[in-house]
Amino acid sequence: MKKWIIGLGLALAWPGVVGCAAEREATSLDFVFFTDVHARPQWDTPEALRKAARVINDCHPAFVIAGGDLITDGFQAAVGTTGPFWDAYMHLHNGITSPVHVVMGNHDLVGARPSDGSPPAGDPRALFGETFGLEQTYRSFDTGGYHFILLNSPQLTTANPYGYEGRIDSAQLAWLKEDLRQVAPETPIILVTHFPLLTAFYQAVDGADTIPVRGMVMNNDEVLELFARHHLLLVLQGHTHAFEAIQWRGSWFLTGGAICAKWWRGPWLGTEEGFLNIRLRGDTVTWNYIDYGWDARRPPDQ
Ligand SMILES: [Fe+2]
Repeated sequence: MKKWIIGLGLALAWPGVVGCAAEREATSLDFVFFTDVHARPQWDTPEALRKAARVINDCHPAFVIAGGDLITDGFQAAVGTTGPFWDAYMHLHNGITSPVHVVMGNHDLVGARPSDGSPPAGDPRALFGETFGLEQTYRSFDTGGYHFILLNSPQLTTANPYGYEGRIDSAQLAWLKEDLRQVAPETPIILVTHFPLLTAFYQAVDGADTIPVRGMVMNNDEVLELFARHHLLLVLQGHTHAFEAIQWRGSWFLTGGAICAKWWRGPWLGTEEGFLNIRLRGDTVTWNYIDYGWDARRPPDQ
C-alpha cells in the first residue's frame, strides 16, 4: 500500500513523462482523408457532397486531405467543358471549415484525350493547379511533429491504350530525394498518392496474376526505396474506391474508400460512401471509415 502511494505521488509530480505515454503525447494529430469524389451535377450529387462536408466538419479535423478524382471524366472531356463538374465538387470543398489539401487523380487530368476529337489540353494539370492556386501539384509540409508529402501520381503515357498510368516521374523522384534529405530519420512521414503504392485489391477481386497497367504506382519499388532510411508511418491512397488496410515493414497503407463509393451507384465491394477519420498519437495510427449516410440516387440504367 505504501509503495502504491509513493508511485502515485511521482505520477502527480511529473504527469505524462513516463515511457510511452510521454512519447505519444509529444505528437498528436487528428485529420480527415477523403478520396474519389467523382463530382458531377447529376443524381443529386451536390446534395450528397454538402452532406459529406457536414459530417466531416463534425469530426473537427485539424485539416483535410483530398486524394484525387475530385471530378469525374475530366481526362476525356473537351477543354473548357468541366466547369459544372468543378462547381459540383466545390459543394464539398467549400463546405469544409478546415483547410483542405488536394492531390490529383487521373480523372483530374482535364482535356488529356477529349473523346469528341477536339484538341487536347496543352497541360492537363493546368486547370487543377489554377482551381486550387497551386504552383506545383506535388509538395510537402510539416505539422504537429509529422512530415506530410503529397505526390502527383497520374501520368500521361503512350505505353498502354488508356493514355495514363500511375507513376512517380523522374522530376518528382528528384524532388522527393531532396525533400527527404531535409527530414530527420526519426520524423514520422505521411505520404499521400492517388494511385496506390501497395494494394491487395486486384489480387482479391480479379485473381493472383492480375495487376492492371493503370492500377497502381508502377514504379512503387523505386519510390519505397527512397524511404528505406526514413520513418514512413502512413501512406494514404485512393483509386480502387474500396477501403483497405495493409501493414508492411512498419508502415500502414490505407486506401480510403470513396466519397462516391461505386461511382454513385451505392456501396462498392462492401465499402459505403465515406471517408477516413484518422488519429495520430506518436507512432500509433488509428482510423474509422465514416459512412456519411448517403443513399445512391443514380438510376440503374445510367
Ligand atoms: Fe476514382
